[in-house]
Amino acid sequence: PANGQNKDGKGRKVIILGAGLAGMTAAYELGKLGYDCTVLEARARSGGRVWTVRGGTQESEMNGGPAQTCTFANGLYFNGGAARIPHHHQITLQYCRELGVPLEIFNGANESAYLYNDGGTGDLANRRMRISDYHNDMRGYTSELLAKALDQSSLDQQLTKEDVEKLIDFLKNEGDLNTAHLYKGTNRRGYKSKSDPGAGNAPGTITDPYGLTDLLRSGFMQPVFYNVGDYAYEQQTTLLQPVGGMDAIPKALEKKLAGKIIFSAPVTELRKTENGVRVVYQKAGKSVEVTGEFCVCALPLPMLKNLESDLSGTVKRAADFIPYMKTGKIGLQFKRRFWEEDDGIYGGISRTNMDINQIWYPSFGLQGPKGVLIGYYNFYSRAEAVGAMTIPEREKMAMTQGAKIHPQYPAEFENSFSLAWHRIPFSGGGWAVYDDAIRKKYYPSLLEPDDNIYFAGEHTTYLTAWMAGAFTSARRTVESIHARVGEYT
Ligand code: PHE
Repeated sequence: PANGQNKDGKGRKVIILGAGLAGMTAAYELGKLGYDCTVLEARARSGGRVWTVRGGTQESEMNGGPAQTCTFANGLYFNGGAARIPHHHQITLQYCRELGVPLEIFNGANESAYLYNDGGTGDLANRRMRISDYHNDMRGYTSELLAKALDQSSLDQQLTKEDVEKLIDFLKNEGDLNTAHLYKGTNRRGYKSKSDPGAGNAPGTITDPYGLTDLLRSGFMQPVFYNVGDYAYEQQTTLLQPVGGMDAIPKALEKKLAGKIIFSAPVTELRKTENGVRVVYQKAGKSVEVTGEFCVCALPLPMLKNLESDLSGTVKRAADFIPYMKTGKIGLQFKRRFWEEDDGIYGGISRTNMDINQIWYPSFGLQGPKGVLIGYYNFYSRAEAVGAMTIPEREKMAMTQGAKIHPQYPAEFENSFSLAWHRIPFSGGGWAVYDDAIRKKYYPSLLEPDDNIYFAGEHTTYLTAWMAGAFTSARRTVESIHARVGEYT
C-alpha cells in the first residue's frame, strides 16, 4: 500500500487494538500513508504471541494461574510462540529485510534426532530410534518389495520393459538395495559406534538394519511419525529464525512506532460513534477514552469475548465460536549440551507419542557451555492436560518423559519455564482453528469492516498460526481503509 507519495491518510485518526505483529504492521503501513495512529496494548511489551522467553521473563497465567520468573542463564532463550519461518513466507522475509532483522537457519529436519513410541510391541518397542534408521530402513524395505513386484512382472502393466528397468534402477538408489535388489542395510543409517571410518585400517562397520516386522510393530507408523523425512510444506527446509530470538521482529516494528504505542493499556470498551469509533482503555487504574475515524482491531478473538462493544452480532458470534488452539511449550535449561556432545544432534526435532509430543533442539549457541531445549510442544488435549498442571508438575512430566529419549536429563537439568497459550492473558489461545464449516459460517464477517471497525490478525487469513498471516492481514486491512478513504476524498 505504501509508495511514500500518496499521503491521503494525513490527519485521519486510527485507533489500533493490540501491538502484536498485525496491529504494529497496520500502524507502520498506515503511518507511511500519513495516518495518525495510536496503538493500545494491554501488556507492558509488544509482540503478542511472538514472544521470546529469557532470564528475567515473567508471566502469570489466567484465573490466578501460576506465576513464573525465568531463570535461564545469560544468552539462553526459547521462542515461546512463533519459532520458525518457512522460506516461502515472502511477506515475513520481506519485513525482516525492511526492518533490518538478521536471520539464521532454523534446523527443522534432523535425521539424527530421535523417534520414540511408548507402547509399541516387538523388539523395537519402547526404544528410542534415530530418524535416519527408521527412515532408511523403511525406504529400503518398501523399495525392495516394489522391485520384487516389478521383477515378477506383476506391476508392469503400464510400463514397457525399458521403463521397468529404469524404475528398478531408481528403487535401487532410493532404497540403497544390493545387486540382487535386496535391502541389507545402508551406510545412510550410519556406523556402529566404536567402528566409525577413521585413520589406517578403519573403513567403518555399518549398522545392521532393523527387521521390517519389528519396525512395523514398533508403532512408528502412527500418524505422529508420518512426516519423518517428508515434512509438510511449511516444515520443509530451509526454515529461518531471527538471530537472538523471534522478538527481534516485534522490537524492530516497535522502534518504527516510537511514541505511538500505549502500553499496559487493556481495552475495555469498543464503541461505534456517528463519525467513527470510541475506545475506552484502562491506564494506571483509570478509564481513559480515545476517539478515531477508524479502528483496526488486531486482538485475538478470545479477547473479544468479554469486551463491551457495539460489534455486530455476526462478529460477536465469530469471536464466540471460532476455536483457538490449545498449545504449550516448556524450555528446559541443561548445564551441558549433551544432545550435541553425546548424540550429535544440532537442531531439529525428536518426535514421540507421549504427552511431550516433540523435543526441539536449539539451532543457535551450538557447542556452548549450556543450553535450553524445548522439552515439549503439544496441541489439543495433550496441551490442555499439561496446561492444567502446576508448574512443578509440568516440569516433572517433561523430565520423566524426556528422559526416556535422553537418559542424561536428570543429571544435567537446571531449571525450566513453561507456558500454555490458552491460559495466557491477552492471548487466550495459540491460533484460530478453522474447519470448512467454521470457515464458511464465521470467517466472512471478519473480512469486512463492521462500520468503521476493521479486523486484522492471523485469524483473518488462510495463513493461521503463522506470522505471515499477521503481516498479510495487516496489509489487506490497510489497503481497504485506504481505498475507502480514497473513495471519499
Ligand atoms: N506455525 C506454528 C508452528 O510452526 C504452528 C503450526 C504447527 C502450523 C504445525 C502448522 C503446522 O509450530
